[in-house]
Amino acid sequence: MKDLKNIKVLVATEEHLKYVDQVNDAIDIASKERGTGIARRTYEYIATKMKEGKAIIALENGETFAGFCYVESWGAKSFVANSGLIVVKDYRGIGLATEIKRKAFSLSRQIYPDAKIFGLTTGLAVMKINHELGYRPVTFSELTDDEDFWKGCQSCVNYDILQRTGKSKCLCTGMLYDPAWEKDKKAEKKTWAIKGTLLDIINKLKPNKNGSSPKDAAILTLLFKKKNQ
Ligand SMILES: CC(C)(COP(=O)(O)OP(=O)(O)OC[C@H]1O[C@@H](n2cnc3c(N)ncnc32)[C@H](O)[C@@H]1OP(=O)(O)O)[C@@H](O)C(=O)NCCC(=O)NCCS
Repeated sequence: MKDLKNIKVLVATEEHLKYVDQVNDAIDIASKERGTGIARRTYEYIATKMKEGKAIIALENGETFAGFCYVESWGAKSFVANSGLIVVKDYRGIGLATEIKRKAFSLSRQIYPDAKIFGLTTGLAVMKINHELGYRPVTFSELTDDEDFWKGCQSCVNYDILQRTGKSKCLCTGMLYDPAWEKDKKAEKKTWAIKGTLLDIINKLKPNKNGSSPKDAAILTLLFKKKNQ
């Protein structure tokens, strides 16, 4: 049984160009097994991703190829996808894809902080990982309308479905992470923090059994006025 502890998950560089063929072969084998007919990426495409620092590679003992994924941007960089996820058969089921996707996600956030991150998948493993990262399932209308992205579906055996539905649905589930959700969450937390603080003050200033002092009431009014300014 392989151990995740022996596997390093890194941002690929020029140093890893020697693994490009292995990456492509592994993607080829997996797409044949799945019967989805995913197109083989060219050597140049994968190599460029490595040179640009937009790929993640997993190596056992710093040497043996175990997994890969790369970052692509679409729609004038307003959307980002983490594509070409592959884990070599011997290394599956130990959480390696989770680690690779985590790293690809943080790399995407670093390079394209305002972009929405999305993916299309039929695989339960990827759905689980995406969900954990904060992606939500969405209809295709929420994904990029960049024609070049959708061209990538042409080699899929189910492409006729996508065509018939005018790109509105297919067998894949669309999943999306929008960085704006984080901002909403932060704003919401702040509002609750303010509400919490005010509540504490109100409780402290509450009249005791003997009745409230006029001084307390004055402070309370002042505080409310300040917060609502
Ligand atoms: C899909 C793939 C990347 C998963 O890699 P992995 O390293 O085995 O995945 P992990 O061990 O990180 O598992 C992640 C989660 O998915 C689950 N999972 C893994 N393989 C699964 C499978 N075949 N079916 C259902 N669930 C699966 C795991 O149990 C885990 O769930 P948990 O967090 O609830 O425990 C790998 O099987 C693969 O390379 N397949 C071929 C290429 C491919 O399908 N790529 C994805 C294209 S969208």
